[in-house]
Amino acid sequence: MDYIEKLISKAFEARKKAYIPYSNFKVGAALLTKSEKIYSGFNIECAAYSVCNCAERTALFRAVFDGEREFSAIAVVGDSGEKEITESYCPPCGMCRQALREFCIPSEMKVILAKTISDFKILTLDELLPYSFGPNHL
Ligand code: THU
Repeated sequence: MDYIEKLISKAFEARKKAYIPYSNFKVGAALLTKSEKIYSGFNIECAAYSVCNCAERTALFRAVFDGEREFSAIAVVGDSGEKEITESYCPPCGMCRQALREFCIPSEMKVILAKTISDFKILTLDELLPYSFGPNHL
């Protein structure tokens, strides 16, 4: 199994556990560290809606808590269905794009948007967040 397939399947696995009582929109993410570890996450919603945390940031913050600081890829899967297949690609929201930006080289960071293990598209973070502001600006 190559790393793309592995990341997508970990994202689908995480998605099953999403805490989504309000939107019923399940998202899973799996993040690859430069040291080749995988951290997964799902979205966590709150009755105060603005406090919701996306799957991507759950994965990212778990990894950062563990001391990881450099990442090379993330797979994201999401929709309101129950199956191991989604109807459409789920691109990361603006906040998640910016949070990922903190810990990667945007032109090298791969964002894998998947519907199934074999139906995916790969973009770089630079394509999703062009001309971005990052740690190098401070
Ligand atoms: N969501 C994610 O977890 N990741 C995304 O990339 C887009 C949106 C979540 C937030 C919220 O729990 C639900 O999807 C609907 O917006």
